[in-house]
Amino acid sequence: MEQYAIKGGNPLVGEVEIGGAKNAALAILAAATMTDETVLIENVPDVRDTNVLIQAMESIGVIVSRIDRHTMKINASHIHDLTIEDDYIKKIRASYYLLGALLGKYRKAEVSLPGGCNIGLRPIDQHIKGFRALGASVRIEHGLIITETEELKGNHIYLDVVSVGATINVMMAATMATGKTTIENAAKEPHVVDLANFLNSMGADIKGAGTDVIRIKGVPKLHGSEYTIIPDQIEAGTFMFAAAVTKGDVTVKNVIPKHLESISAKLLEIGCEIEESDDAVRVVASKPLGHTHVKTLPYPGFPTDMQPQIVVALGLSGGTSIVTESIFENRFKYVDELTRMGASIKVEGNTAIIDGVERYTGAGITAPDLRAGAALVIAGLSAEGLTVVDDIKFIERGYEDFHLKLQTLGAQIERVNTERELQKFKLKVG
Ligand code: EPZ
Repeated sequence: MEQYAIKGGNPLVGEVEIGGAKNAALAILAAATMTDETVLIENVPDVRDTNVLIQAMESIGVIVSRIDRHTMKINASHIHDLTIEDDYIKKIRASYYLLGALLGKYRKAEVSLPGGCNIGLRPIDQHIKGFRALGASVRIEHGLIITETEELKGNHIYLDVVSVGATINVMMAATMATGKTTIENAAKEPHVVDLANFLNSMGADIKGAGTDVIRIKGVPKLHGSEYTIIPDQIEAGTFMFAAAVTKGDVTVKNVIPKHLESISAKLLEIGCEIEESDDAVRVVASKPLGHTHVKTLPYPGFPTDMQPQIVVALGLSGGTSIVTESIFENRFKYVDELTRMGASIKVEGNTAIIDGVERYTGAGITAPDLRAGAALVIAGLSAEGLTVVDDIKFIERGYEDFHLKLQTLGAQIERVNTERELQKFKLKVG
């Protein structure tokens, strides 16, 4: 029964090292299977999502040797199967990145169809549209997506929706297609750029990543490479909002400030001070938080993965704020949990109307998904009294040592596995 036990009220103060970007790592690990030579990847976050993808890769014969907690050597010269088992995709949807990688390299791949999840239906029609445009057949049989072709040929692909996953999957397949591919209306997230840079380091020919038109010249073969993954903009943003919510003073280190621009801009807007240096951003929250309006958008807009975190902050601000979720259709489920802590929020469709309250009060709550779970922990850090967060496995999918990093910033938080450990925590914090 792993839970986080939290005694709120301490301002977070100090410095925290940000890890490698989970959503870049998932794409890059999959892409590493596209060469038969050895690839060395550094700054891989040690989180459940990356570890499950590594297990899925090993299940088809990829050799993954860990040099240290965040560095690994990958060799995919002995892949013996092109079918990714059901339970891997059930654990993480991003196993479907192996579709684009294996289709590009072997002209065939089979992966279980990912289900929906707590934040929305998560269709993959744009992934399928891209594979078909490259000449691959795609069919769904017995819960498997089966894609294959004799020849993968470059094409001009217009994505109907700005989709990170579809951009990544199609980019990988097109990398080894014959001829040129243009992906229009492509996602511009930092992790899309990181993947393109990684593929180019293996000998791919990809231009325009980070803009909405990506141009790819197919190459017959990719070679080995050594690559370091970018820092995680969402982990950084989560700690930045933790500073705001607890009236703290936190410096996130080993970040790329440019990737955090929309997050820093909103923190400034609600009254925090921001100090940027080359690879760090400091957030000081000495004044009461102000209200604002936010609409989540594809990068460089305000990220949907930061929506729960800003709602928690605006729930404590003076005045009324409006947050519109334009990416996913069901990403306000956590509001019911936040209401149990005293928040005053009305959700109408994809809009949340937030009337700021004086404080949250601690309660027993459940993490409904990865980012909302982290946001509820932040709420607990500011709340009066004790908060116990259930289902923290969601949070540990994407945050490495989350409670340990918070402890170094002065938070009274512990990961408890039994009722006895919880009682001990309660006695300790009083
Ligand atoms: C990625 O999901 C991230 N996951 C998500 O982060 C993130 O919230 C999302 O991008 C948006 O930034 C990974 O990178 C592993 P999309 P993805 O395709 O690729 C619709 C986290 O917390 N769509 O950009 O699945 C879709 O329904 C996770 O780390 C289609 O309609 O997101 C959504 O409304 C949560 N058809 C919109 O596009 C498709 O074929 C954006 O989704 C694909 C997507």
